[in-house]
Amino acid sequence: MPTQLDLVVAGRPQTSCIHLDASLASLPALAAGRQVVLVVDANVRRLHGTRLPDWPLLEIEAGEATKTLATCERLARALVDQGVDRSTLIVGVGGGVTCDVTGFVGSTLLRGVPFGFVPTTLLAQVDAAIGGKNGVNLGGLKNLVGTVTQPEFVLSDHALLATLPPREVGCGIAEAIKTAAVGDAALFALIEASLDRLLQGDEQAAARVVEGAVRTKVRLVAEDERDHGPRRLLNFGHTLGHAIEKVFGTSHGEAVAAGMTAAGRLSVRRGLLPAAEGERLERLIERAGLPLSYPSDRWPDLVAAIGHDKKRVRRRQAGVLLRAIGDGVVIEVDDEEWRDMRP
Ligand SMILES: NC(=O)c1ccc[n+]([C@@H]2O[C@H](COP(=O)([O-])OP(=O)(O)OC[C@H]3O[C@@H](n4cnc5c(N)ncnc54)[C@H](O)[C@@H]3O)[C@@H](O)[C@H]2O)c1
Repeated sequence: MPTQLDLVVAGRPQTSCIHLDASLASLPALAAGRQVVLVVDANVRRLHGTRLPDWPLLEIEAGEATKTLATCERLARALVDQGVDRSTLIVGVGGGVTCDVTGFVGSTLLRGVPFGFVPTTLLAQVDAAIGGKNGVNLGGLKNLVGTVTQPEFVLSDHALLATLPPREVGCGIAEAIKTAAVGDAALFALIEASLDRLLQGDEQAAARVVEGAVRTKVRLVAEDERDHGPRRLLNFGHTLGHAIEKVFGTSHGEAVAAGMTAAGRLSVRRGLLPAAEGERLERLIERAGLPLSYPSDRWPDLVAAIGHDKKRVRRRQAGVLLRAIGDGVVIEVDDEEWRDMRP
């Protein structure tokens, strides 16, 4: 049964409508007769293109390397060629890369046109499509250029996940574990209980986990859209994770998994988190087929990459640690403290 959840950011008139457990068939109704242009990645077009409404479509290459200003410029030019005006709706259909690129173009072209997302990866359904951050990479640095503008809508159709390779399912589970670990103990328990079904592609299991993760993210974003307060908890695993992604070219979800393991270990080392809770986190990451660790021989590159994280203000920077499963805390961490936090 579709569920509609409204993300209402304090002080902002615009509401982002999140349609969970919905069907791609309801996309034309959301367009409400407007001119629409689709932005779709090549894999999604190949796998699901025939199910998309017959609207003009701009294709982007699949993969993180596409998340650049060059891609955004190409899209913006193509949209201008399509005769876009401020009433045109742009809909990104794809994973987190497609959502980020579409959101960046949508929120900047003509100083902002309406845009919506149809997330097609578990990672994008639980996380990337929600919350209005639209970032692209610059010079190898993650999400260095971006906007915070909410999509008009997000339409999550879990049937689209049927074609997702198992490894990408794992990446989505990583972001769901992240959200649960910092803000929702019941969701964490749900992921533990339904993990095997999630990994087998069970749609109902995915629907429940997506809904739990989205509800928690919506709660944190509604309080703190600009990432100065509780939203920062969602960076759990990301300080080291982004560095691992940059240095080793690891996928986002897998890098976050290794980053969460390190953050869990640091939480235990600091005496914040009971060791048994740290082990529970690692056990779930491992059961999801995600990496706990990363190669040991590139610490100087990793610490340099941590230093280039855009959230950095000094050599000590805000990190996210755990006090319990479901209870994250933003706390100062010295860059060097991340060293040797590998299993
Ligand atoms: N804006 C945010 O708040 C936010 C939050 C989390 C992550 N992100 C970003 O999201 C990105 C990661 O997202 P992702 O993992 O979805 O990456 P992605 O968009 O690269 O998708 C992963 C792969 O899955 C393929 N794919 C997509 N849908 C498919 C389907 N239904 N069936 C088969 N294959 C499919 C894609 O073509 C791609 O090859 C990163 O760039 C990350 O920084 C953004």
